[in-house]
Formats: sequence, C-alpha cells, structure tokens
Amino acid sequence: MIQHEILQEITFLKEKRNAVILAHYYQLPEIQDVADHVGDSLALSKLASDLTNELIVFCGVDFMAESAKLLSPQKTILLPVKDACCPMADMATPADVERMKADHPDAAVVSYVNSTTQVKAVSDICCTSGNAIKVIRSLPHKKIIFLPDENLGSYAAIQIPEKEFVLFKGFCPPHEEMMAVDVKIAREEHPKALVLVHPECRPEVRALADFIGSTAQILKYAAESKHKQFIIGTEQGILHPLKLRSPKKEFFILGPGLLCPNMKKTTPELLLQSLQKMIHPIDIEPSLAEAARMPVQRMLELS
Ligand code: 13P
Ligand code: SF4
Repeated sequence: MIQHEILQEITFLKEKRNAVILAHYYQLPEIQDVADHVGDSLALSKLASDLTNELIVFCGVDFMAESAKLLSPQKTILLPVKDACCPMADMATPADVERMKADHPDAAVVSYVNSTTQVKAVSDICCTSGNAIKVIRSLPHKKIIFLPDENLGSYAAIQIPEKEFVLFKGFCPPHEEMMAVDVKIAREEHPKALVLVHPECRPEVRALADFIGSTAQILKYAAESKHKQFIIGTEQGILHPLKLRSPKKEFFILGPGLLCPNMKKTTPELLLQSLQKMIHPIDIEPSLAEAARMPVQRMLELS
C-alpha cells in the first residue's frame, strides 16, 4: 500500500470505529497530520479525559497512553507501538521514591508525568513541563521531592526559591545532549534569531536562552513574537507545527542530537495496524491504577 492509501485507510477505519487519534508534537509530521488532535503532554492528558470517544489511539510514548488510561479506565486506549517508551521515565523506580521519602518525610512528592505508573502511584501530585511551576506553587509543603527529570526540577527550583528541592538525577537523553556550546554556535550562525528551549535542557543551556517553555508554550511564543527567526531547543518533531503555524518564519534546530527515537517509532503503517487489529490496548492492574490516578487527577484539577 502506498503512503496516501495508508493514510486514507487510517481515516476510514478511525471513523468506522468512532476512534480519536491523539499525537504529541514530537511525532512524525505524517502522524501529526492524520491525528485529530496534536498537543503537548498537558493538553493531550486533558483531552483524553474530556473526549467522549470510547476508543483513543495515542501516538506518543507509553507513559502518555497510560496516563490517558488512568483518567479514563472505561475507554480503550491503544498505543500503536508497544515498545515506544520514555527512557527518562524508566530511570526512576518506586523504590527511589520510597528512599527519598524516608530521607525527607516532610516533603511532597511531585512526579513529572514522564514517569512510570508505578512511580505515579507513590507520588502526591503529577505535573507536566507546562504546569510544573503552578502545581508546585500550589502545594503547602516547603520541601519538594521532584522526579525523574533533574533539569525540569532545577528549572522549577529557580522559579520557586522559597521552596527547598530534592532532585532525582534523571534526564531526557535527547535534551541532555544539547550543550551550551551548541547555543553559542547557533547564535553565531543565526545572529538575529531568538533561542527558545524546553525546560528539560541542561541549566547552562537554559541560561543562554531567550525563552524557556513546554512544547505548546514554545509554539505560542514563536507564533506571537515579532521576530522572524528562531533557534529551537527541543525535539525536532516540533518543527512541523512551528512551520504550519508560522509559515513565514524560519526555524533552526539546536545541535545535532535532538531526536527522540521512541517518539519516531509510530509510523503510518503501524498506526493503521493498530486500528485494524486493535493493538496495543493499555491495561493497568486496578489497585495500581487507583493509586496512580489520584496524582494525575490532582494535577488536572489545578490546570
Ligand atoms: P511537553 O512539552 O509536551 O511536556 O513534552 C515534553 C516531552 O518530553 C514529552 O515526551
Ligand atoms: Fe522521554 Fe525525552 Fe523522548 Fe520525551 S523526548 S519521550 S522525555 S526521552
């Protein structure tokens, strides 16, 4: 089947099954184009709970599809590629949380949604890169255990100096690869461009940026800015929606390594197979799901 036929068949099957396709901004352009909704982690988790469709195909990575299942246990949530995982989420375990809690019993545990369901189940509240500051500020606790992303945690710590942070040392491999020297080189090559980076970047990279925000916040900033050129410090999938929203502006990706292989595993062929064979449905053991749902729901109540 040629690409055009595959995409037509996806649309046909999606309508036949009354399914909705959600895609993260890091997905391949052709997946973003065939999806019903494209968004950042925060928008997609809100949508997953608000939509009335009984079948959601989540084009992203496992923790996103699992969060959708937590919020809508009665719905069928499909992750087209079973091993589309998030290496950062897998860095922290519930045992790590218990150890940090034992050392800091007075702290609240805030887990980035980029965490396993097991870690969420032992957390007080979740956050995304789009609402981390708001979520943490809302807590009465003076001390915050933050995991798994040390970079997002250190970004929050700078924004909220009145609280004390205990950070787990996890990281997103593609964002961690970006170095301060990459920003310096990119600025020399594009002296008129603004540098927009994700908070998953290293502190020394963030310190050189003009704007720090989640994928949705970067998109909004670039669209509303009077500037015409931007150096982008987040996964390269975002170039597609950036160009769609601002076709007259120019975007340059920062450094060579900004590609998340797991986000790129979902191809049109595998999305079609997912709809044809109803694979891979997310299934979470009920008592684990109940414990993990609470911190995600708390986050959404604040958003
Ligand atoms: P968001 O900007 O959507 O929070 O994405 C960050 C990310 O790494 C998703 O995997
Ligand atoms: Fe995980 Fe980073 Fe890939 Fe997002 S971009 S899924 S945080 S490895």
